[in-house]
Amino acid sequence: SNRIMLGPLVAAIDQGTSSTRFLVFNAKTAELLSHHQVEIKQSFPKEGWVEEDPKEILQSVYECMDRTCEKMTQLNIDISNIKAVGVTNQRETTLVWDKETGEPLYNAIVWLDLRTQSTVERLINKTPGRNKNHLKHKTGLPISTYFSAVKLRWLMDNVEKVHEAVLSHRAMFGTVDSWLIWSLTGGKKGGVHCTDVTNASRTMLFNIHTMDWDPELCKYFDIPMEILPKVRSSSEIYGLMVSCLGDQSAALVGQMCFKDGQAKNTYGTGCFLLKNVGTKPVMSDHGLLTTVAYKLGRDKPACYALEGSVAIAGAVVPWLKNNLGIIQTSTELEQLAADVGTSYGCYFVPAFSGLYAPYWEPSARGIICGLTQFTNRSHLAFAALEAVCFQTREILDAMNQDSGIHLSQLQVDGGMTSNRLLMQLQADILCIPVVKPSMPETTALGAAMAAGAAEGVSVWSLNPEDLTEVTSEKFEPQINPEESELRYARWKKAVQRAMNWET
Ligand code: G3P
Repeated sequence: SNRIMLGPLVAAIDQGTSSTRFLVFNAKTAELLSHHQVEIKQSFPKEGWVEEDPKEILQSVYECMDRTCEKMTQLNIDISNIKAVGVTNQRETTLVWDKETGEPLYNAIVWLDLRTQSTVERLINKTPGRNKNHLKHKTGLPISTYFSAVKLRWLMDNVEKVHEAVLSHRAMFGTVDSWLIWSLTGGKKGGVHCTDVTNASRTMLFNIHTMDWDPELCKYFDIPMEILPKVRSSSEIYGLMVSCLGDQSAALVGQMCFKDGQAKNTYGTGCFLLKNVGTKPVMSDHGLLTTVAYKLGRDKPACYALEGSVAIAGAVVPWLKNNLGIIQTSTELEQLAADVGTSYGCYFVPAFSGLYAPYWEPSARGIICGLTQFTNRSHLAFAALEAVCFQTREILDAMNQDSGIHLSQLQVDGGMTSNRLLMQLQADILCIPVVKPSMPETTALGAAMAAGAAEGVSVWSLNPEDLTEVTSEKFEPQINPEESELRYARWKKAVQRAMNWET
């Protein structure tokens, strides 16, 4: 009939902390043709615990795929033109399942979860000089509640079913990418148990120099290597699925930051600034992580990134909505904040999961300070948006200090970038322009590009000269730098008060 001929298409599954998406792109023009999104429930069974249901995550992927394909059929686009499906995902979130029954043995422990705080403190206390960077030379990471190894250790120590499955050689560990790829490629009937180098680099079990699981790290956390997935590159055929990369790596690819020194900041549940540092890992002296950015093909070199991770960014929105009840929607947050245009001296440090980069302080807790009788919910809303911007400023400062080179503008993406007030505030607080692509689904685009470029698919070129120009919008700083510095200095004081909260 009237089928529209578009040439090769490439799809992406984007499984984030708060939602799942399936998106289909035209591999020639990078145009987003159709997509569907489903929210994911988070549960907080105890203070500091954050879990998600692995089956709900998988179901949401199926639903997004079905609905997107329906929409495409309605648009008269032939879905058989989809040549590859890339996976991108929330990183570090930890799952264990039984390979014979296919059943998850516990909920997914979400990256933000704090249940391992005491384990982390114990591990750090055992290191010479109580050094949280004890394993950094191999992993690029500080010992923290954030990464998978401690979560996996907790599951093995505290969940009887996991313990038994490990003993009887039935356990499979994976981050969300592995769970999805294994399930989608056949599950208990022969699913492919793999992960890619970017996700592996977030477990604390992976050596970023040898690019493989590290026996010594596995021994350190006492984790049997047989439960680990096989590590692959971020752009190759794994089975029916093609390629995968962690969401922050995917965003880096989607923003076309292929050159040394190029950087992007993604505002999702958390906020993650990654800077490509090329084919040699660079260690930070200012609290940033060294992580694998991507390896786009089996025979391609790995590229590394310096990363500044902020745990709570977009996550302030559901908190203000569900816990304080001062807003109903994220649009309302922007309006409220815009009504006053200032926090009126109120500072909000949302250290709900401790503080990540550059502090790595699991015992930090959130604070709101500088309140007066005049302070109202609009000021608080403004302070919440400012918190996202100040946290980004701290990361950017650390990056600039590490490299001695100052970034002249910041490329941004992610859900929160639709908040124009936030974007303007970000430019004001960084004192550099903020540039946002007009197609906001950069993470999915990156995953689709990597899948489409895989050997044997090759419908998408990753050659910078062939890549489609992206249209973007620029926010220029509008306040004077002195005022910006003053506000930032106050923020830093507030952060000091949030640190070591109980001691
Ligand atoms: O490290 C966690 C990160 O991958 C989650 O990203 O977009 O779900 O906040 P997001």
